[in-house]
Amino acid sequence: MKKQTIIVTGASSGIGKEVARHFLANGDNVVINSATAEKLEQTYHELGGGDNLAMVAGDVKYKSTGEKLLAIALEKFGSADVLVNNAGIYETRPFLEVDEAYLDRFLDTNLKGTFFTTQAVIPQMLKQRDGVVINIGTPLVVHALGGAPSTAPVASKGAIHSLTLQLAAEFGKDNIRVNTIAPGVIRTPMHGAEVDKGAGLHLVNRVGEVEDVAQMVYTVAKSNFINGAIINVDGGMGAGHNLN
Ligand SMILES: NC(=O)c1ccc[n+]([C@@H]2O[C@H](COP(=O)([O-])OP(=O)(O)OC[C@H]3O[C@@H](n4cnc5c(N)ncnc54)[C@H](OP(=O)(O)O)[C@@H]3O)[C@@H](O)[C@H]2O)c1
Repeated sequence: MKKQTIIVTGASSGIGKEVARHFLANGDNVVINSATAEKLEQTYHELGGGDNLAMVAGDVKYKSTGEKLLAIALEKFGSADVLVNNAGIYETRPFLEVDEAYLDRFLDTNLKGTFFTTQAVIPQMLKQRDGVVINIGTPLVVHALGGAPSTAPVASKGAIHSLTLQLAAEFGKDNIRVNTIAPGVIRTPMHGAEVDKGAGLHLVNRVGEVEDVAQMVYTVAKSNFINGAIINVDGGMGAGHNLN
């Protein structure tokens, strides 16, 4: 399989770190990002710090972070083939307690991060006439849970799902494919030690593991004909629950 260069945002932890590990293990080049430089550096070493790996710390809400990611990808590896917009935050807060500053945090990282990092990288994909953008969404945008009051993160992720379809429509003819992967509850630092309490939300009666998501990211990246798709990797959570 052709060796590719993958940019992964939010790769200092959880799903993003495993996505980076998965591509590296399969021989690709990877550029990792996160907002916290020390955490990213630690991850860089954890992933082996080899010739196939590069890093750029920075907040994805700034287009300049995406531009730096692209610049390093080109300087070290000569192309930018796959962008995984994984950096994201999630918290719960009742709707009536959400103020503008709180909402902006989710719009900044989740929506603007995905929007502007993609805007920074697509010009290179157009030059290559080849590229894949993979966004990370959530089944919660079409499957709400009353016990998880999350209007701010869910509104920002819903916008990512819509953005995915529109980008796929605008750039499909240029051989740039854009898809969203929507994970169920996955065991990452985002959920902490209580994560298994969410098992019953999934028809398989367990939460997901980071490998479950990384495998799908890899499959979508390497496929040629998946475009404009929202792909649940959610143990059946979008279909129903395993609750008594
Ligand atoms: N875990 C789940 O159950 C689940 C379910 C559905 C969707 N997701 C989505 O999957 C993605 C990864 O989640 P996770 O569970 O792996 O979370 P995580 O372990 O908390 O990791 C989040 C990553 O995003 C980075 N990040 C946060 N804000 C950033 C910013 N403004 N700029 C750059 N990087 C930033 C963090 O880096 P620093 O801390 O170093 O800044 C970290 O590397 C998110 O988009 C999340 O919404 C997760």
